[in-house]
Amino acid sequence: MFIAANWKMNLDKKSILEFTKSLQNFKFSNQINTCIFPPMTYTDYLYNLTNNLPISIGGQNCHFESFGAFTGEVSANFLKDTGCEYVLIGHSERRTLNNENNAEIKSRAETAINSSLKVILCVGENLTDREEGKALEQIEKQLNDCLPYNFNNSFIAYEPIWSIGTGKIPSAFEIQEMHTHIKKIVYRILNKNINVLYGGSVNVENINSIIEINNVDGVLVGGASLKAKDFLAIYSAAVKHLNISS
Ligand code: 13P
Repeated sequence: MFIAANWKMNLDKKSILEFTKSLQNFKFSNQINTCIFPPMTYTDYLYNLTNNLPISIGGQNCHFESFGAFTGEVSANFLKDTGCEYVLIGHSERRTLNNENNAEIKSRAETAINSSLKVILCVGENLTDREEGKALEQIEKQLNDCLPYNFNNSFIAYEPIWSIGTGKIPSAFEIQEMHTHIKKIVYRILNKNINVLYGGSVNVENINSIIEINNVDGVLVGGASLKAKDFLAIYSAAVKHLNISS
């Protein structure tokens, strides 16, 4: 089970220090992998504050080139150098606000993996596609276009765009159907079994009903991961779920 926290462009140095203080006496479980994606400027800082804890650090994006004249971009090598083990690629906010297309996302993922980062590749449909019954088709296209040949030690995050930051989540049936669909497509393309995380309005209230859905291998949490108390409550719900189902 994987619990990932995407802080997006939130939390400064002072808040990160406060957050990590709350983690120090918490009993982490060896059944859960967890990764925090802080703002890029603080990967190093968070890495040093958590290096006594079973928490990985990730970057929120990386460029498809490893170095060069790309002002404002971040190299996968630099993420690795500042303690990152993971990187998010193709988050819908990058696709929409930074015009990242499928071809670019594919090469960003490929470069990240060649730099020994583990990728969490994000896919998700918009509301129109969902309402018109085209969600499965849309995700299949994204996977066909974005999956690099070297997709090792990596994950897919299913994040319906209409669910991010809105408090709306798909039904349990829709989540299970989509996660099963994603696993089948990845298997068909790469002959590999893959873990699929759900992201979009995950919080302390709905975590129990989400993690019990078949083929949900973890969650990618945005807003609810900004407070240590909520992040740890979500984590604890996952531990409880594993203990009950084992
Ligand atoms: P929210 O949990 O705030 O909806 O964000 C989800 C997300 O985008 C995680 O990457």
